Amino acid sequence: MRLTCITPLSCLISLLVWGCAGCTPRYSPDWTSLDKRPLPEWYDEAKLGIFIQWGVYSVPASGKNAEWIWERQGKNSNYQDYVSNFTAESFDPKSWAELFQASGARYVVFTAKHHDGFTNWPSAQSRNWSSVDVGPHRDLVGDMASAVRNRSMHFGVGYSQFEWFNPDYLSDKDSGFKSQKFVDEKVIPQLRDLVIRYKPELIWGNGYWEAPDTYWKSKDFLAWLYNSSPVKDEVVTNDGWGKDTSCKHGDFYTCRVNYMPDKLVNHKWERCQSIDKNSWGYRKDMQASEVMDLSSIINERLKGLGGWLKANGEAIYGSRPWKVQKEDCKGNCKGKCTVWYTSKDDAVYAIIVGSTCTRLELTEPKRTKDTKVTLVGKCIEIKPDDKSTDLIIPLPDNSNAWCLKLEGVE
Ligand SMILES: *[C@@H]1O[C@H](CO)[C@@H](O)[C@H](O)[C@H]1NC(C)=O
Ligand SMILES: *[C@@H]1O[C@H](CO)[C@@H](O)[C@H](O)[C@H]1NC(C)=O
Ligand SMILES: *[C@@H]1O[C@H](CO)[C@@H](O)[C@H](O)[C@H]1NC(C)=O
Repeated sequence: MRLTCITPLSCLISLLVWGCAGCTPRYSPDWTSLDKRPLPEWYDEAKLGIFIQWGVYSVPASGKNAEWIWERQGKNSNYQDYVSNFTAESFDPKSWAELFQASGARYVVFTAKHHDGFTNWPSAQSRNWSSVDVGPHRDLVGDMASAVRNRSMHFGVGYSQFEWFNPDYLSDKDSGFKSQKFVDEKVIPQLRDLVIRYKPELIWGNGYWEAPDTYWKSKDFLAWLYNSSPVKDEVVTNDGWGKDTSCKHGDFYTCRVNYMPDKLVNHKWERCQSIDKNSWGYRKDMQASEVMDLSSIINERLKGLGGWLKANGEAIYGSRPWKVQKEDCKGNCKGKCTVWYTSKDDAVYAIIVGSTCTRLELTEPKRTKDTKVTLVGKCIEIKPDDKSTDLIIPLPDNSNAWCLKLEGVE
């Protein structure tokens, strides 16, 4: 009798415990808790995204880091007058989205606000300094979001927390970030508005580095975002939440421009790289524009990338890191190159970057009696050289044999 009671009772207790766990928020506003959130799967699988830095600064479109022009010109310059020419008359979100999709990108991040404070959406906290009140008179974020989603890509927003010349921000800064008027009246309301209005699946925090996360109230915002916002299950954020958060907190790490760790990193990270090496924002004075117009360069680059991904995407989308990240090419290669590894199910992929090889010797994957090598994209099976116990792979002459699928290796 006694024994039969024990099981139902312990079941009841665990049901109560689970029931209660459901009533309390899953994440509390501290990093220990927030850092436990699993990375939403879509982001791990998507691999490639496009970030668009676009705003009033795209009118003068000049100088290194074109989007910083107001800061270079100074507060009292006539920067704000450029907005009359920010008409966005060539803005065609449908064809942009079509191009981004052709590039193989699986998500697009669009600037909602940069450090000049101008919003590309109708923000109640940015009256007369938004793309709906002035300039294009159009909700650029909303139009971009619809076009991107219509092409089955994920949509995210880039948001700068600080603003160079905002008087409330500057007075909070003067107080040593003790006062938080700017955060309470602008940053938090704007971030929540963006989330509720556009349901972004990615929030790329920017302009966070002068002040601690406690000033920005980032932990409270993230706890709301992860517990009860309309995107609580799918949203991902970078590490831009305060001066000590970079490379430490957030769903994925941006760390720094062109971050490229040499070893496997035990947390999702991104390599964030501009197409124009001198600027994130559009620059009329970009060198190559003297040779070819900018839009055709971007078209060509993105379509080239898309072509490669179409043939070899099997090694990229939905892949996971392999136990070894990379090795230098050995064998018979035209120049220095690197073999990068990914994995999916039981297969290991070896992607050759930097040169072409006619014979490749891989030392990291160990050969077994079942080893099978396929040239991805061309679907050609290649017989490794069986006189050696190493994995020596002859490659078709002259082919851009970038990507090999290795099965039955250890
Ligand atoms: C706007 O563009 C017109 C025509 O290019 C130019 O004359 C004018 O100076 C520009 N205004 C500003 C504020 O840049
Ligand atoms: C916005 O500009 C209009 C027209 O110049 C002006 O009437 C209005 O008061 C301004 N609104 C704000 C909130 O500054
Ligand atoms: C959605 O995409 C289709 C093509 O996939 C296109 O024909 C249609 O115009 C798009 N609609 C919008 C609103 O972008």
